Amino acid sequence: MHAYLADWLSLIIRWFHVIAGVAWIGASFYFVWLDNHLREPPDWKKQKGIKGDLWAIHGGGIYEVAKYRLGPEQMPRKLHWFKWEAYSTLMSGMALLFAVYYFGNPGYLIDSSKLALSTGGAIAVGMGTLVGVMLIYEALIRSPLSRNGLAFGAVLFVILVAVSWAMFQVFAGRGAFIHVGAVIGTIMVANVFLGIVPAQRALVGAIERGEEPDAHVALLAERAKLRSTHNNYLTLPVIFIMISNHYPMFYGHAHGWAVLAAIGFITAFARHFFNLRHQGITRPSILVISAVLTLGLIWAMAPSRPDASQAADAEQVSDIAITALVETHCQGCHADRPTHPAFQAPPAGISLGTLEQLREHTDQVYQASVATDYMPLGNTTGMTREERDMLGAWLRQAE
Ligand code: HEC
Repeated sequence: MHAYLADWLSLIIRWFHVIAGVAWIGASFYFVWLDNHLREPPDWKKQKGIKGDLWAIHGGGIYEVAKYRLGPEQMPRKLHWFKWEAYSTLMSGMALLFAVYYFGNPGYLIDSSKLALSTGGAIAVGMGTLVGVMLIYEALIRSPLSRNGLAFGAVLFVILVAVSWAMFQVFAGRGAFIHVGAVIGTIMVANVFLGIVPAQRALVGAIERGEEPDAHVALLAERAKLRSTHNNYLTLPVIFIMISNHYPMFYGHAHGWAVLAAIGFITAFARHFFNLRHQGITRPSILVISAVLTLGLIWAMAPSRPDASQAADAEQVSDIAITALVETHCQGCHADRPTHPAFQAPPAGISLGTLEQLREHTDQVYQASVATDYMPLGNTTGMTREERDMLGAWLRQAE
């Protein structure tokens, strides 16, 4: 019953999290688009302080959008801020992190062959990393480094790769992946909360007082712009990380942190194409390079089959030995009615009750338990390298 309700809980939070994320990223994509499509307004609008004009049709109605150079003479009674989308994405993301990882199935997060963390220890390491990296980012963006966009981007990339490597040293693959995604998400929300919203507040304050914004307001605005640019480059990687977290071939990979770095680079680089295009520069080579790099990654990550000369191959592996192995290491979870308390139904829909069923999933089982040690989850049953090789040899002879 516990597992059943836990699944419902995580599904509902996940659903909310995705909706909040869509609302946030959707709004920011829309405003980037808006900024890039503003046209010069007619004179009578210019006299009102309007610097960009745009007309659109949507949902059966025609909209007129105007962007002010600074602001209207009088602030409207209702000004929409677009900040709760970001905050609710963070809050639901945190709830998910706790429900699925910290208090859910420990196998997703804790790998005792890496570090035998208690729940409290895992929360301390996870939350410490989120807050720590966010503080480093905050220190950097207030430093002179922020004046050089490219150098800042490079430093940020190196920091994130280091975080990714470190997370893979302490957490199981899936837990490591989600923490890198959460670090990026936290930086993005902090950008809104600690930079963009305060800059907007300062601007609105100045307009309300009827003052021209001073140097301080201008500095805040400039930094807010940089933060918003970073968020823009981080959107594609963060979404990729969040969804790739459901594909063991990524986080179960022996060099998962490097896979993550490659994906981060490729997706952020691809974003660059769209950003340039918005500025009227079309550079298809960026997309071509991204596609070639992706093909390279697909090739590099392809699971390799062990060569026939391996020791376990010399002798035939008996069905009886494999039946016993699967019973010990897999069937607690992968059965029609799992005995493991965390599962209500066979995880990933894979039941391994019979050798026939094992054969049906040859490639996946090979990938999960032989090529990587992603399965058994968290290796709670203590499956050895010899047993993995034996399983690999059996799967090959069963083909
Ligand atoms: C403690 C429970 C548990 C044990 C034991 C376990 N698994 Fe799993 N297995 C899972 C869960 C949970 C998933 C879903 C993983 C996910 O969504 O990331 C899964 C997923 C899988 C998948 C699908 C991976 C994919 O490609 O999506 C395969 C294959 C698999 N397990 C094989 C095995 C084999 C073989 C064993 C025994 C050697 C085993 N598992 C032992 C819990 C377990």
